[in-house]
Amino acid sequence: RMAMIRLDKLLSSAAGLTRSDAKRKLSSGAVTVDGETVKSGSCKADPGVQRVLLDGRPLLYREHLYLLMNKPLGVVSSTDDPRSPTVLGLVPAPLFRRGLFPAGRLDKYSTGMLILTDDGDFAHRLVAPRKHLPKVYEVTLDAPVLTPALVGEFAKGVYLGGGERSSPALLEPLSALRARVTIYEGIYHQVRRMFDQNGAKVTALRRVRIGGLALDPSLPEGGCRELTGGELRALFALQNPEPEGTP
Ligand code: URA
Repeated sequence: RMAMIRLDKLLSSAAGLTRSDAKRKLSSGAVTVDGETVKSGSCKADPGVQRVLLDGRPLLYREHLYLLMNKPLGVVSSTDDPRSPTVLGLVPAPLFRRGLFPAGRLDKYSTGMLILTDDGDFAHRLVAPRKHLPKVYEVTLDAPVLTPALVGEFAKGVYLGGGERSSPALLEPLSALRARVTIYEGIYHQVRRMFDQNGAKVTALRRVRIGGLALDPSLPEGGCRELTGGELRALFALQNPEPEGTP
């Protein structure tokens, strides 16, 4: 059961309005609770039980939001950037609220599965290195380096340059220039660096799975929707699988 919440707070968290915009909307009569116009932000309602409408449309109230995005090329996964569009700009208005951020990143020129939330504890569980949540990427390379020897190298962990090493990773060749790569941490530019060190440039990189949840193939690039409860649980269902060769 949801608790009573002030209407100005509800408008800011469920509709992304600033305090002053919420106040303006309320005093203009745009908000109804069970059919009655309510003009004061200090009035309370229970959005789990009562029907709260803004401009005639129901407000979506959640304590926290958990969104799945299929990130397109050229968009940065940070909350603001002076030069490039950000993933936050792709969140549809009814799902947007202040405090949303990407839980884990994808490079500007990577695509695929990205989780956004305003729940810091959840985001931490998703990216905490000691959880070893697997992340699966499909890569396209510019050189045919996908030998059994390289598969063996990945299984031992790969030197990334800059004094850094990956933990054991799974490399599954799909064709001469395409492969699936599973990694268990998220070091800066990790997958690109794993191939850079082994004679190939990554020309396309798409994340297709995090933990036990695969990217929804029906979600178009640039699409964004709420995760279901089942999907949220699935994310964490594959925790701590020790990849082969882990010391
Ligand atoms: N590894 C990379 O190099 N880039 C990404 O976006 C994700 C993993």
